Amino acid sequence: MFFDPNRKSPALAYNPIKAIVAPRPIGWISTVSATGVANLAPYSFFNLIADAPFMVMFATSGHKDSFFNAVSSGEFVWNLVSHNLADAMNRTAGTVEAQVDEFELAGLTKAESQTVSAPRVAEALAALECRVDQFIPLKSSIENRYNSMVIATVTCAYVDDSMLKDGMFDTKNAQILARLGYQDYTMVDRVFPLQRPE
Ligand SMILES: Cc1cc2nc3c(=O)[nH]c(=O)nc-3n(C[C@H](O)[C@H](O)[C@H](O)COP(=O)(O)O)c2cc1C
Repeated sequence: MFFDPNRKSPALAYNPIKAIVAPRPIGWISTVSATGVANLAPYSFFNLIADAPFMVMFATSGHKDSFFNAVSSGEFVWNLVSHNLADAMNRTAGTVEAQVDEFELAGLTKAESQTVSAPRVAEALAALECRVDQFIPLKSSIENRYNSMVIATVTCAYVDDSMLKDGMFDTKNAQILARLGYQDYTMVDRVFPLQRPE
């Protein structure tokens, strides 16, 4: 079947697009507000978009605290979500007032960053400190729906030493969580190599 992804289809219980474009990495974004309150929220419209220099993006549907804080401070930290942090990550997705510290809400520990003022999640096995380069209001064909994208350069990377095996990051051992559609998630538990052609 074909369907218009931006309208409710009578043939579909829920829109399947996010279940099809899957799995999506989770950008667990920590920021600090202009008044000094730490903020933490998950974004599955997130990705690594360049490697020289390393750059990342995340996009918000509507106006969200992470976007305002990242743009006003010019910084954020991406934190890796492992399977054991699934519940904590989910707790940081609730809609709360901007003055609520979501690290405290989710029972997480702040660790100081090296190059940005936003803290990283101490329990996360890896983190990327990011400096905002651009923020782009995305053109929207739907009335009263506003989406925005933040693009940033990675200025410092953190990895928990226990995840390094022979100098390589052990992706499977990190039990990385990723977002599917509906209420579903997946975890990286199978890895296989494939050599590129010459
Ligand atoms: C796994 C997951 C992924 C999410 N991805 C996004 C996303 O890509 N864009 C978005 O606007 N909201 C997304 N959300 C919802 C936000 O996390 C939620 O609106 C949160 O309250 C925003 O917090 P903030 O206002 O502190 O930034 C996601 C939620 C979850 C649980």
